[in-house]
Amino acid sequence: MIKTITILGGEGKADTAEGVQRIDLNMGDVVSIVGPTGSGKTTLINDIELFADGNTPTKRRILINGERPSDLYRDDPARNPIALITQHTNFLSDLPVRVFLGIHARIRSADNSRADALVAQTLAFANQLTGEPVIPDNRMTELSGGQTRALLIADAAIICNTPIVLLDEVENAGIHRTRALELLRQYRKIFIFVTHDPRIALLSDFRIVMRNGCITQIIHTDAAERQFALTVGCLDDALSRLRDKIRFGKHLEKTDFTELERFTPEREAAFL
Ligand SMILES: Nc1ncnc2c1ncn2[C@@H]1O[C@H](COP(=O)(O)OP(=O)(O)O)[C@@H](O)[C@H]1O
Ligand SMILES: [Mg+2]
Repeated sequence: MIKTITILGGEGKADTAEGVQRIDLNMGDVVSIVGPTGSGKTTLINDIELFADGNTPTKRRILINGERPSDLYRDDPARNPIALITQHTNFLSDLPVRVFLGIHARIRSADNSRADALVAQTLAFANQLTGEPVIPDNRMTELSGGQTRALLIADAAIICNTPIVLLDEVENAGIHRTRALELLRQYRKIFIFVTHDPRIALLSDFRIVMRNGCITQIIHTDAAERQFALTVGCLDDALSRLRDKIRFGKHLEKTDFTELERFTPEREAAFL
């Protein structure tokens, strides 16, 4: 049983020691990694996925339950406790979605009779995250960016069912992010998101701040920040609605903005 992951700090790009030397993540934690482009966010995610042991350019080490992880995790894909959803999702597979997921379900699951049920659950989950439903007979190579991300998140949660899920820059993908987080939170896992999305950041327990290849700071989401979550959610929903109207060839009207006026900070405080 995985209870914690620990990141032991190494060094940044200029071989300077990292400001934060130890981070412990507990089961159920949702964590964001933030920082400018090139600051080392993807590199940190990759260190975790590789179970870095001082053997990557960052010299970081990853511990599971306080110890060096078992080699089994690395060597047996069915036992790997980490699912990584990367920024790059170009599939080489031209298989229909149903067949692709079925193969994956049979590799991951000990009980092959459950494969069809897992595929159905994965499709149902994915279709709650994307506006354009994934048809099981679509080929993997035909999916849009949003459909691909939605399917990968669903696959990580249901077919991989790993205790640790890493997502690199999920916000570019055109999926319902709050819905994704709500659905994922129902599973007891450690989630690590690379994101600058205020909505996801404010729903995280804390953020890991990167600069120049180093982990420089940990920021816990405090009560004051959580107060803003409602306003941020409201703004974000309003923008999504505007985006949808534009996408479907509609005109914007004054009424499209009335929703925004409802949530001034004072009213939000009263609401909470
Ligand atoms: N601690 C480090 N030591 C050496 N090189 C690093 C370190 N962190 C990041 N890099 C390098 O910096 C570049 C940008 O890092 P990357 O993780 O892709 O940034 P981001 O995802 O924040 O845009 C990559 O070439 C990466 O190998
Ligand atoms: Mg990156």
